[in-house]
Amino acid sequence: MELLSNRPAHASVPDKYVFPPEKRAALLDDAPGSDVALPVVDLQRAALSDPGRRRLVAEEIVKAGKEFGFFQVVNHGVSEDVVRGFREASAEFFAMPAEEKLPYCSDDQSKPFRVASSTSYDRNQTRYWRDYLKLRCHPVSDELVGHWPAKPESFRSSLAEFSAQVHELAQTLLLLIAEGLGLDGGFFAGDLSGGDTQMNVNYYPPCPDPSVTLGLLPHCDRHLLTVLSQGDVAGLQARYRGRWILVRPVPGAFIINFGHQMEIVTNGVLASVEHRALTNSAVARMSVATLIMPKMDCLIGPAPEMVSEENPAKFREFVFREFMAAYDTAAASREDVLEYFRIEDH
Ligand code: OGA
Ligand code: NI
Repeated sequence: MELLSNRPAHASVPDKYVFPPEKRAALLDDAPGSDVALPVVDLQRAALSDPGRRRLVAEEIVKAGKEFGFFQVVNHGVSEDVVRGFREASAEFFAMPAEEKLPYCSDDQSKPFRVASSTSYDRNQTRYWRDYLKLRCHPVSDELVGHWPAKPESFRSSLAEFSAQVHELAQTLLLLIAEGLGLDGGFFAGDLSGGDTQMNVNYYPPCPDPSVTLGLLPHCDRHLLTVLSQGDVAGLQARYRGRWILVRPVPGAFIINFGHQMEIVTNGVLASVEHRALTNSAVARMSVATLIMPKMDCLIGPAPEMVSEENPAKFREFVFREFMAAYDTAAASREDVLEYFRIEDH
């Protein structure tokens, strides 16, 4: 497997990474929509036990979620040192010589830890300008940790700490989302969020010509909720009112977005929004996405509380495993995958 992170230096973009003009993105600096800023929600983790404050935070989250499907959170309770620790360990991993990474290189999605590069979900042959780690991080066990790399030395311990804290943040967010929607506080607990948690550590090396490449194709996430650390380098764009807006780095923030399962259980109220990653020529960019998943055999459909005469059920019931298969077939395209599960209006 050819890893971008182990190519010496890129003088120009090899042909297989060059997208046809209609699939390219406007350059980061003059991307349209750079003027719209995503809401930044102050989670006030320390104050959430106060019912009044808590209600306001929950309302703010749901408001941002309904309008954008994406928002950032600060004061989220994940320690800065823990974030830095795992980001540094991951950067060191990508910087290792190819031989050290080779044993982990694989496209087999069942592996609990693997390294891969450039996957094209859309099956056209053009490759994305990205290497990535794909790993399982929760529930943690000695057996699972044994699959994580022993080098660099801090990798396993920093990942375990980061994963535990991000997981707690995700649970808090799910509680607040449920409360903000007027659902039972435990609505998302249990099988809806109880599947094995996965992480994508995305690494986008500097690219000699960002105008002809993409780091990650436009896609929606297939699971329930994504908690993303993008660091301080811009590159993520989200779809908003028919255009792409830049998700500006906010120091220490996590970016939160909804996966397809959130859109389906809320019957369309909290939509899964398309996003993509651009490359840049100056510096490498690394993002860490934690993906909260339903259990594979979880039965999913619009919550009865979210269905009414004015908002009739938009999706049929299915088992999450079925959705995973449809997502692969639809090659991550938002409308193609939802097509399998939508109930037509009459
Ligand atoms: C993802 C993703 C965005 C980024 O991993 O699903 O959308 O900024 N990542 O790397
Ligand atoms: Ni994504």
